[in-house]
Amino acid sequence: MTEDAIRIEGLRKTYKGRKGQPAKDALKGVDLVIPRGSVFGLLGPNGAGKSTMINILAGLVLKTAGKVTIWGFDQDANPRQSRAAIGVMPQELNLDPFFTPRGALEVQAGLYGVPKAERRSDQILEMVGLSDKAHAYARTLSGGMQRRLLLGKALVHHPHILVLDEPTAGVDIELRQMLWENIRKLNAQGMTIILTTHYLEEAEEMCDEIAIISEGSLVARDTTANLLGRLDSKAMVVHPAQPVVQLPQAEGIVAELREDGAVVVRYHSKQTSADDVLAAVHSAGISIRDVKTEEADLEDVFLAITKSRG
Ligand SMILES: Nc1ncnc2c1ncn2[C@@H]1O[C@H](COP(=O)(O)OP(=O)(O)OP(=O)(O)O)[C@@H](O)[C@H]1O
Ligand SMILES: [Mg+2]
Repeated sequence: MTEDAIRIEGLRKTYKGRKGQPAKDALKGVDLVIPRGSVFGLLGPNGAGKSTMINILAGLVLKTAGKVTIWGFDQDANPRQSRAAIGVMPQELNLDPFFTPRGALEVQAGLYGVPKAERRSDQILEMVGLSDKAHAYARTLSGGMQRRLLLGKALVHHPHILVLDEPTAGVDIELRQMLWENIRKLNAQGMTIILTTHYLEEAEEMCDEIAIISEGSLVARDTTANLLGRLDSKAMVVHPAQPVVQLPQAEGIVAELREDGAVVVRYHSKQTSADDVLAAVHSAGISIRDVKTEEADLEDVFLAITKSRG
């Protein structure tokens, strides 16, 4: 038995071209190990191959080549066990319009062979905030409510791993908070969480580890802290007491005047100390009314990594 939640080796997916379209290599040989118990972020630009990977994990898309092991079960050799270990909330809304939320959860539980006595449909509806809609037709639910139901469906068979493909795309603040609260709770109970998001502050806040894919290849995989540490670029924003006549100049710093009159000094914290920056500011005759520093965030790291490939 391995201690990994997911192990992906040499994963390839080529979508056949239809109607004269060329074939598309959506995944070009990806190796990735996701540890148990983590909140793992899968990031990448549009079309990178994130949903393709997730849909392969879910058994919704057939891989072209490679090996996928879910909770120690080879997806091809043990399809039932590997499927039972994972619950997926897809990116696309794909609900049957004629089912009620409660009905949809019961059908899903039936598909996974969950015995009636072990079903928790009402508990799940309450968790995702749909108790009052339990008997409404899915087609009458708002987009956000449909997303809640998709999360509920992913949970009916008590999976070890929960995969969320852009759970917060286009949802309001309340639902977003509800989702994150639920995800934290489930993770605290031991569930491994894998998610994609284009909101990088969310990934920065939620994920212990992050993989970045771009054009079908893995381009980075590290702890969130290490990824953030890769860029040691900092910015000091100085609000001067009087209008600035001369910008600070020194080795290792780049200063610019912002439209609002503030001076932004960029530097690398490994080479240049904040003291040196302040000294350069003072030598330029600037008296400081207010000052703050800004560190690189995940967005800067993401852009640096994905751009360096284009
Ligand atoms: N069924 C399909 N047939 C043909 N090509 C497809 C199919 N599904 C996806 N693709 C192509 O494969 C590539 C990867 O798509 P995928 O949906 O995995 O990207 P993604 O990383 O999830 O993007 P997004 O952030 O926009 O959700 C894209 O170029 C896409 O056009
Ligand atoms: Mg996608």
